[in-house]
Amino acid sequence: MNNPLVPKIKLSSLEIKDADSIVKQANNKNIWINLTDIFPSPYKKSDAIEFIKISKNIEPQTIFKISYKNKFAGIISITPKSGMYKNTGEIGYWIGEEFWGKGIVSDAIKLILDYTKKTFPEIKKVYALVFDFNKASMRVLEKNGFVEEAVLKNAAIKNEKTVNIHYFSYFLE
Ligand SMILES: CC(C)(COP(=O)(O)OP(=O)(O)OC[C@H]1O[C@@H](n2cnc3c(N)ncnc32)[C@H](O)[C@@H]1OP(=O)(O)O)[C@@H](O)C(=O)NCCC(=O)NCCS
Repeated sequence: MNNPLVPKIKLSSLEIKDADSIVKQANNKNIWINLTDIFPSPYKKSDAIEFIKISKNIEPQTIFKISYKNKFAGIISITPKSGMYKNTGEIGYWIGEEFWGKGIVSDAIKLILDYTKKTFPEIKKVYALVFDFNKASMRVLEKNGFVEEAVLKNAAIKNEKTVNIHYFSYFLE
């Protein structure tokens, strides 16, 4: 039975034992197509292990595993910017296709915004960059109070095609 007091979504640290689950979910072109080319395709176990090691070396933590009903579902991160941009942070996220449409990322964004506010008091503005065809991602941001501030025209090439990037932002406090 579902207990409404027990949250279905949890953010926690990645562990080396998550590597196989990451590969199972991440090795999918339908995820890759929506992300920057830093995200590998095909996604190999060595990619997962390298990513987990990187995540464990960042202090304070910026990369989180998203668990849904105690199962690995995907990843969410906050990247604090530096220098002139130290008042901003970029969020990024993906979950395995079998988990899409259950409200998981909408909840995960709420959690990462709370975490950002507590952990990085300098960050006043959180943003996300979304390719123009990714309506589901725009929707999860809007559901969390993000606003589309700008459309960066012909801003990148993804999958050999020139794409517009939508800049969504959220002001903390
Ligand atoms: C985009 C993504 C993060 C959404 O996560 P999710 O947990 O499935 O999202 P949610 O279930 O919280 O919400 C999805 C919303 O988008 C809507 N949606 C889904 N597909 C849509 C489409 N093609 N057009 C418009 N809205 C769409 C859903 O109806 C839902 O809105 P609702 O709650 O008002 O009905 C997930 O699909 C994913 O990981 N995609 C691949 C990686 C990616 O795109 N990352 C983001 C890069 S910017």
